[in-house]
Amino acid sequence: SLGFHNGEFIALDQKIIPIDERGHQFGDGVYELIKVYKGAPFMMREHLVRLEKSAKAIRLQLNYSIDQLEAIIADGLHRAGLAGQDAEVYIQSTRGIATRLHTFPNVEASTTMTFRPARVIPAELRERGVAITLAVDERWANCYIKSLNLLPNILAKQAAVDNGYYEAVFFRDGYITEGSSTNVYAVKDGTLYTPPATKRILHGITRHAVLRLARELNIPVVEEEFTPDFLSSGDEIFISSTTIEVLPVTTIEGQPVGNGQPGPITRRLYDAVIADAT
Ligand code: PDD
Repeated sequence: SLGFHNGEFIALDQKIIPIDERGHQFGDGVYELIKVYKGAPFMMREHLVRLEKSAKAIRLQLNYSIDQLEAIIADGLHRAGLAGQDAEVYIQSTRGIATRLHTFPNVEASTTMTFRPARVIPAELRERGVAITLAVDERWANCYIKSLNLLPNILAKQAAVDNGYYEAVFFRDGYITEGSSTNVYAVKDGTLYTPPATKRILHGITRHAVLRLARELNIPVVEEEFTPDFLSSGDEIFISSTTIEVLPVTTIEGQPVGNGQPGPITRRLYDAVIADAT
């Protein structure tokens, strides 16, 4: 494992960010998490384009170009001894280091990264599927921005885990939005349903891959709002993210989904994502 801070590779535990830093004082920044398969970062360009979009949405000028970030990632993986390995790259850009004031400081953005071996999702979770609970979406109106402000997400996730669930899936104004750190899907009568890519959800990179692969597999795709009841009535439910890829959901609020087993379309899409990434 290795860290990076504005041009320097450093040990992960090296103390380097001063107290007056916008990321930890205000959450004034954006981030990305990229998964690396046998040394090859999956959809890296798409992640870095989204980082730029998130930055632009908060009026932050990144201190590296996409090409520079790509070069740093390749270098970092190599230096971390992760060349050819499964890894995770976390990138965070903030409005930099300046005396605490709400107004924007006149300083450069600050970018840090971590390079770590990939977390492994236990095979048992994939085989049995996971349990989800529903939670009121109390987040702001711009969830398409991958901002550092994750307090509602971590509170919902912790409450879910405390109650024996794997993930909390949010609903707002009667409609499902997304999970605390995942996008969510229902399969019904062979059709794949997922909420549309509005400002209310993160436009997941894995979501993008899932929908592309579903279309290639001739699975009909519907990107429309749906209710918690509709989700519960799905023959299959699954969640997606960079870390979990595609993970079957087999209970929702303690009730079995379909026959209670991971479903065939979920499995096909998982296999397709892994084949695409490797
Ligand atoms: N989370 N929705 C939310 C709120 C997320 O935080 C994430 C990702 C996703 C899935 O996006 P993607 O497929 O691009 O990873 C959806 C990352 C993994 C995290 O916060 O660690």
